[in-house]
Amino acid sequence: MKPVIACRKGIIASFLLGAALILAADASGQDPATVSTSETIAMIGTGNVGETLGKLWAAAGHTIIYGSRTPDNEQVRALVEETGHGATAATQAEAAARADIVVIPIPPGAIPEVIAALGDLQGKIVIDPTNFVGFEDGFTTSPRDPRLSLARQVQDLAPGATVVKALNTLNYTIMEDPSRAGGPVTVPIAGDDPAAKARVARLVDDLGLEPLDVGPLAAAQYLEEMLRLYVGFRTINPGIAFEYYLRIRPN
Ligand SMILES: NC(=O)c1ccc[n+]([C@@H]2O[C@H](COP(=O)([O-])OP(=O)(O)OC[C@H]3O[C@@H](n4cnc5c(N)ncnc54)[C@H](OP(=O)(O)O)[C@@H]3O)[C@@H](O)[C@H]2O)c1
Repeated sequence: MKPVIACRKGIIASFLLGAALILAADASGQDPATVSTSETIAMIGTGNVGETLGKLWAAAGHTIIYGSRTPDNEQVRALVEETGHGATAATQAEAAARADIVVIPIPPGAIPEVIAALGDLQGKIVIDPTNFVGFEDGFTTSPRDPRLSLARQVQDLAPGATVVKALNTLNYTIMEDPSRAGGPVTVPIAGDDPAAKARVARLVDDLGLEPLDVGPLAAAQYLEEMLRLYVGFRTINPGIAFEYYLRIRPN
């Protein structure tokens, strides 16, 4: 039997029971988790993460529409040019309307404003890579309410969308060049919809990173804590960092 998520570098396991459904071969006899499809992706945000993912996914054959507050400015035009492969830029709402997958690499504080600006997200997959990192006395701090992840906030603001938490646990420079990690890098993926997670996993695989299904959207809270550990470790150990490489096992 094939694993839920297949990737170039190895076999990724999943402990999510629901995800087992996609183990079944589709009508064509192919495992849907391994079929490569070209996605239309709205990249909402043209900063470090948006730019990096936009360029890489465009080069991998996906259609990128940058959704920017300033789609006509010089910097965004230059980004569209550098991205190539038919990439375009539009307002946040236009980009989201034209895409099936909406990625929101934006500051966490901008989530309410941006989700409102995106308009109707019914039926779309929203990939949430956002993080909150607070600092106190040199240590990273967590939000007051541990149950309220940023991904949960996004889902509550866009109830018709399928939110998947992913790509928040690594720096954009590792997304850009995973070989800098010196070994495989895991990208944990959390969400309530196995089919949506499988599509996100294929996009992660396209980056040369290892997708790992870590369960329902409730697990996003832990993914956001993982980032605080990632940043906190670097902060108290100047000059060194780590990357996540995880394997799920029965407990
Ligand atoms: N930096 C990393 O290595 C990394 C890695 C993983 C996850 N993350 C997370 O991903 C998110 C984006 O990180 P980033 O480093 O790409 O940030 P960034 O360079 O500051 O870019 C954020 C982008 O969000 C857009 N945006 C929309 N509304 C905004 C607002 N009200 N204020 C400011 N920008 C707004 C902007 O694009 P327009 O001007 O075109 O609208 C901006 O370029 C953050 O939540 C971060 O924690 C970062």
